[in-house]
Amino acid sequence: MPSSTSSVITLKINGEKYTLPVDHRTTLLDALRERLDLTGPKKGCDQGQCGACTVLLDGRRAVACLQLAVAAEGREITTVEGLADGEQLHPVQQAFLDLDGFQCGYCTPGQICSAIGVIQEHAAGWPSAVTDDLRPEAGPPPLTADEIRERMSGNLCRCGAYVSIVEAVARAAAGTGTRTDTAPAARISPEAGTKEAVA
Ligand code: FES
Ligand code: FES
Repeated sequence: MPSSTSSVITLKINGEKYTLPVDHRTTLLDALRERLDLTGPKKGCDQGQCGACTVLLDGRRAVACLQLAVAAEGREITTVEGLADGEQLHPVQQAFLDLDGFQCGYCTPGQICSAIGVIQEHAAGWPSAVTDDLRPEAGPPPLTADEIRERMSGNLCRCGAYVSIVEAVARAAAGTGTRTDTAPAARISPEAGTKEAVA
Protein backbone atom coordinates (compact mmCIF):
# COMPACT_ATOMS: atom_id res chain seq x y z
CA MET A 1 0.00 0.00 0.00
CA PRO A 2 1.27 3.50 -0.77
CA SER A 3 2.41 5.44 2.27
CA SER A 4 4.80 8.24 3.08
CA THR A 5 7.66 5.76 2.57
CA SER A 6 6.39 3.63 -0.29
CA SER A 7 4.62 4.03 -3.62
CA VAL A 8 3.23 1.95 -6.43
CA ILE A 9 5.24 2.77 -9.51
CA THR A 10 5.25 1.70 -13.14
CA LEU A 11 8.59 1.14 -14.79
CA LYS A 12 9.05 0.77 -18.53
CA ILE A 13 11.79 -1.76 -19.03
CA ASN A 14 12.85 -3.19 -22.36
CA GLY A 15 9.54 -2.07 -23.85
CA GLU A 16 7.40 -3.76 -21.16
CA LYS A 17 5.55 -2.06 -18.32
CA TYR A 18 5.95 -3.35 -14.79
CA THR A 19 3.84 -2.04 -11.92
CA LEU A 20 5.09 -2.73 -8.43
CA PRO A 21 5.03 -1.28 -4.92
CA VAL A 22 8.43 -0.09 -3.77
CA ASP A 23 9.93 1.42 -0.66
CA HIS A 24 11.18 4.85 -1.66
CA ARG A 25 14.71 3.82 -0.72
CA THR A 26 14.77 0.93 -3.21
CA THR A 27 17.42 1.36 -5.84
CA LEU A 28 16.66 0.70 -9.48
CA LEU A 29 19.20 -2.12 -9.35
CA ASP A 30 17.40 -3.86 -6.48
CA ALA A 31 14.04 -3.35 -8.13
CA LEU A 32 15.34 -4.93 -11.34
CA ARG A 33 17.15 -7.82 -9.74
CA GLU A 34 15.21 -8.61 -6.58
CA ARG A 35 11.68 -7.64 -7.54
CA LEU A 36 11.48 -8.19 -11.29
CA ASP A 37 14.00 -11.02 -11.81
CA LEU A 38 15.93 -8.99 -14.37
CA THR A 39 19.31 -10.18 -13.19
CA GLY A 40 21.34 -9.02 -16.19
CA PRO A 41 22.52 -5.88 -14.38
CA LYS A 42 24.97 -7.12 -11.74
CA LYS A 43 25.65 -5.87 -8.26
CA GLY A 44 29.37 -5.47 -7.86
CA CYS A 45 30.12 -2.63 -5.45
CA ASP A 46 26.62 -1.15 -4.91
CA GLN A 47 28.18 2.30 -4.65
CA GLY A 48 28.75 3.52 -8.19
CA GLN A 49 32.35 2.42 -8.51
CA CYS A 50 32.43 -0.66 -10.75
CA GLY A 51 29.87 -0.22 -13.54
CA ALA A 52 28.57 -3.80 -13.28
CA CYS A 53 25.00 -2.50 -12.88
CA THR A 54 25.09 -0.19 -15.92
CA VAL A 55 21.80 0.15 -17.79
CA LEU A 56 20.54 2.66 -20.33
CA LEU A 57 18.10 5.33 -19.10
CA ASP A 58 16.46 7.15 -21.99
CA GLY A 59 19.36 5.87 -24.08
CA ARG A 60 22.09 7.18 -21.79
CA ARG A 61 24.16 4.93 -19.57
CA ALA A 62 23.58 5.04 -15.85
CA VAL A 63 24.62 2.96 -12.87
CA ALA A 64 21.42 1.44 -11.52
CA CYS A 65 22.78 1.13 -7.99
CA LEU A 66 22.79 4.93 -7.66
CA GLN A 67 19.32 5.47 -9.11
CA LEU A 68 16.19 5.27 -7.02
CA ALA A 69 13.50 3.14 -8.61
CA VAL A 70 10.89 5.85 -7.98
CA ALA A 71 13.03 8.32 -9.92
CA ALA A 72 13.12 5.99 -12.93
CA GLU A 73 9.35 6.06 -13.38
CA GLY A 74 8.42 7.45 -16.78
CA ARG A 75 11.84 6.78 -18.27
CA GLU A 76 12.86 4.23 -20.88
CA ILE A 77 14.98 1.64 -19.08
CA THR A 78 17.03 -0.78 -21.15
CA THR A 79 18.93 -3.65 -19.57
CA VAL A 80 21.12 -6.18 -21.29
CA GLU A 81 18.07 -8.45 -21.55
CA GLY A 82 16.47 -5.95 -23.93
CA LEU A 83 19.28 -5.53 -26.43
CA ALA A 84 18.89 -8.52 -28.72
CA ASP A 85 16.25 -8.61 -31.43
CA GLY A 86 14.92 -12.13 -30.95
CA GLU A 87 17.79 -14.47 -31.83
CA GLN A 88 19.75 -11.59 -33.38
CA LEU A 89 22.26 -10.23 -30.90
CA HIS A 90 22.94 -6.51 -30.70
CA PRO A 91 26.13 -5.73 -32.67
CA VAL A 92 27.96 -4.92 -29.43
CA GLN A 93 26.91 -8.25 -27.92
CA GLN A 94 28.06 -10.05 -31.06
CA ALA A 95 31.42 -8.27 -31.01
CA PHE A 96 32.00 -9.24 -27.36
CA LEU A 97 31.16 -12.83 -28.26
CA ASP A 98 33.32 -12.93 -31.39
CA LEU A 99 36.34 -11.33 -29.71
CA ASP A 100 36.13 -12.99 -26.28
CA GLY A 101 35.40 -9.68 -24.56
CA PHE A 102 34.80 -11.46 -21.27
CA GLN A 103 36.00 -14.25 -19.03
CA CYS A 104 33.69 -14.92 -16.06
CA GLY A 105 31.09 -12.62 -17.61
CA TYR A 106 30.10 -10.85 -14.39
CA CYS A 107 30.98 -7.39 -15.64
CA THR A 108 29.84 -8.09 -19.19
CA PRO A 109 26.21 -6.85 -19.11
CA GLY A 110 27.41 -3.53 -17.72
CA GLN A 111 30.30 -3.38 -20.18
CA ILE A 112 27.96 -3.97 -23.11
CA CYS A 113 25.40 -1.37 -22.01
CA SER A 114 28.20 1.07 -21.37
CA ALA A 115 29.76 0.38 -24.77
CA ILE A 116 26.46 1.15 -26.48
CA GLY A 117 26.38 4.44 -24.58
CA VAL A 118 29.99 5.17 -25.55
CA ILE A 119 29.34 4.66 -29.25
CA GLN A 120 26.28 6.91 -29.13
CA GLU A 121 27.99 9.61 -27.07
CA HIS A 122 30.96 9.59 -29.41
CA ALA A 123 28.73 9.81 -32.49
CA ALA A 124 26.97 12.79 -30.87
CA GLY A 125 30.34 14.54 -30.64
CA TRP A 126 30.91 14.28 -26.92
CA PRO A 127 34.61 14.65 -26.10
CA SER A 128 36.40 12.59 -23.47
CA ALA A 129 39.22 13.46 -21.09
CA VAL A 130 41.76 12.26 -23.69
CA THR A 131 40.28 14.09 -26.69
CA ASP A 132 42.98 16.40 -28.04
CA ASP A 133 41.00 18.80 -30.17
CA LEU A 134 37.99 20.17 -28.32
CA ARG A 135 36.98 22.74 -30.94
CA PRO A 136 33.35 22.17 -31.99
CA GLU A 137 34.36 22.28 -35.65
CA ALA A 138 36.86 19.45 -35.10
CA GLY A 139 34.01 16.91 -34.90
CA PRO A 140 34.23 13.57 -33.15
CA PRO A 141 37.81 12.29 -32.75
CA PRO A 142 38.66 8.82 -34.05
CA LEU A 143 37.49 6.30 -31.51
CA THR A 144 41.00 5.10 -30.77
CA ALA A 145 41.93 2.52 -28.16
CA ASP A 146 42.83 5.35 -25.79
CA GLU A 147 39.45 6.99 -26.35
CA ILE A 148 37.69 3.67 -25.73
CA ARG A 149 39.71 2.97 -22.58
CA GLU A 150 38.93 6.40 -21.19
CA ARG A 151 35.26 6.31 -22.07
CA MET A 152 34.88 2.77 -20.65
CA SER A 153 36.94 3.51 -17.54
CA GLY A 154 33.88 3.41 -15.30
CA ASN A 155 33.45 -0.28 -16.01
CA LEU A 156 35.86 -2.49 -14.13
CA CYS A 157 36.69 -6.08 -15.05
CA ARG A 158 38.28 -8.15 -12.33
CA CYS A 159 39.19 -10.83 -14.87
CA GLY A 160 41.23 -8.31 -16.82
CA ALA A 161 39.55 -8.88 -20.18
CA TYR A 162 40.25 -5.28 -21.12
CA VAL A 163 42.25 -5.96 -24.28
CA SER A 164 39.41 -7.90 -25.84
CA ILE A 165 36.80 -5.47 -24.53
CA VAL A 166 38.53 -2.57 -26.30
CA GLU A 167 38.69 -4.62 -29.49
CA ALA A 168 35.01 -5.49 -29.24
CA VAL A 169 33.95 -1.88 -28.70
CA ALA A 170 36.13 -0.79 -31.64
CA ARG A 171 34.65 -3.45 -33.90
CA ALA A 172 31.08 -2.58 -32.95
CA ALA A 173 31.79 1.12 -33.46
CA ALA A 174 33.39 0.46 -36.83
CA GLY A 175 30.21 -1.32 -37.84
CA THR A 176 28.38 1.98 -37.44
CA GLY A 177 30.84 3.73 -39.74
CA THR A 178 32.87 5.24 -36.92
CA ARG A 179 36.57 5.81 -37.62
CA THR A 180 38.38 3.86 -34.92
CA ASP A 181 42.04 3.86 -36.01
CA THR A 182 42.68 0.71 -34.02
CA ALA A 183 45.00 -1.84 -35.60
CA PRO A 184 43.76 -5.42 -36.09
CA ALA A 185 44.45 -7.22 -32.85
CA ALA A 186 47.03 -9.95 -32.63
CA ARG A 187 45.50 -12.89 -30.82
CA ILE A 188 46.74 -16.31 -29.82
CA SER A 189 45.27 -19.18 -31.79
CA PRO A 190 44.52 -21.88 -29.18
CA GLU A 191 45.14 -24.70 -31.65
CA ALA A 192 48.44 -23.54 -33.05
CA GLY A 193 49.67 -21.44 -30.18
CA THR A 194 50.62 -18.85 -32.76
CA LYS A 195 49.58 -15.27 -33.29
CA GLU A 196 47.10 -14.40 -35.98
CA ALA A 197 45.46 -11.17 -37.02
CA VAL A 198 41.78 -10.87 -36.27
CA ALA A 199 39.82 -9.53 -39.23
S1 FES B 1 27.17 -2.12 -8.55
FE1 FES B 1 26.66 -0.21 -9.40
S2 FES B 1 28.57 0.69 -9.90
FE2 FES B 1 29.09 -1.16 -8.88
S1 FES C 1 34.81 -10.90 -17.32
FE1 FES C 1 35.02 -11.39 -15.20
S2 FES C 1 34.85 -9.49 -14.21
FE2 FES C 1 34.93 -8.99 -16.29
